[in-house]
Amino acid sequence: MEKVARGSLLGIEHLEAAEIAGILKLARQMDTRKPRPLLRGKRILLLFYEASTRTRSSFEIAAQSLGAATTLVLSSGSSIEKGESLLDTVYTLRAVGADLIVIRHPNAGAPQFIATHLDIPVINAGDGMHEHPTQALLDAYTILRHKKTITGLNVAIVGDIYHSRVARSAVQLLSKLRAKITLCGPPEFLPEVATTLAPGLQISRTVEDAIRGADVVMVLRVQKERLAGMNVSLDDYITRYQVTLPRLRLAKKDAIIMHPGPIIRGLELTWEVADCRQSVIVEEVRNGVPVRMAVLTRALGGRR
Ligand code: NCD
Repeated sequence: MEKVARGSLLGIEHLEAAEIAGILKLARQMDTRKPRPLLRGKRILLLFYEASTRTRSSFEIAAQSLGAATTLVLSSGSSIEKGESLLDTVYTLRAVGADLIVIRHPNAGAPQFIATHLDIPVINAGDGMHEHPTQALLDAYTILRHKKTITGLNVAIVGDIYHSRVARSAVQLLSKLRAKITLCGPPEFLPEVATTLAPGLQISRTVEDAIRGADVVMVLRVQKERLAGMNVSLDDYITRYQVTLPRLRLAKKDAIIMHPGPIIRGLELTWEVADCRQSVIVEEVRNGVPVRMAVLTRALGGRR
């Protein structure tokens, strides 16, 4: 990997299990509503080239809870609309005094690209179909609030694996912590390289087989346009892969059900599943704040 500023978080791929554990531990310390002005005087730029609700708001709240000033730059309404390049945009943000840039971009590799041209840390808030490292960290954090350890847990990931940066980051993180992962979705949504993403990955043809005995069921968003683009009918997807209560009953009794959001009720999961006792979907959003506080503190080296 080319040289980037210390504290950058570009993907899970380059993180060691010990670093992951360190971030999760720091997140636990951050998990209070007590003000912690560790980053007072720092300027955090949030550069979003794609839509976002949870990721953007939780990064902003995390930064402000640490006493940092935040500025949001969206592709619409900025000079990006006038055709300014990505690199010229980030040089501008650096010139106005950014100490750190959080970026979401539709192109895989965009955070890595800007990080190699900047002397400040860059945090990847989702790049194309590549990675979404803070989502994987908050998912691990959420699992650990319900399970003693991730090692040996059976995790089923169901939905559009192929287009999902959430799946890519989750698979890497959970394999580094030695979970047993089973992927499930229409073959069109399972990358050929799926099993090479991490050692020991299983692929299940039926959702029943994937969910049976699972400790964690992670459901991914499924987009109607993508189903159409892959020639998979909506009805067929729902019949074969939708996570329903009867299917969820095949999982362990104390299994948790996760989804990175935004959820499409009635497509990848039913209303009952989204709102059931085992659903931690809202808790995941909540946990995004302490986890992102930890990632920002690690990047900007605030004293604890
Ligand atoms: C995801 C994303 O944008 O990658 N959402 C999120 O950040 N919580 C998942 C998705 O859009 O499917």
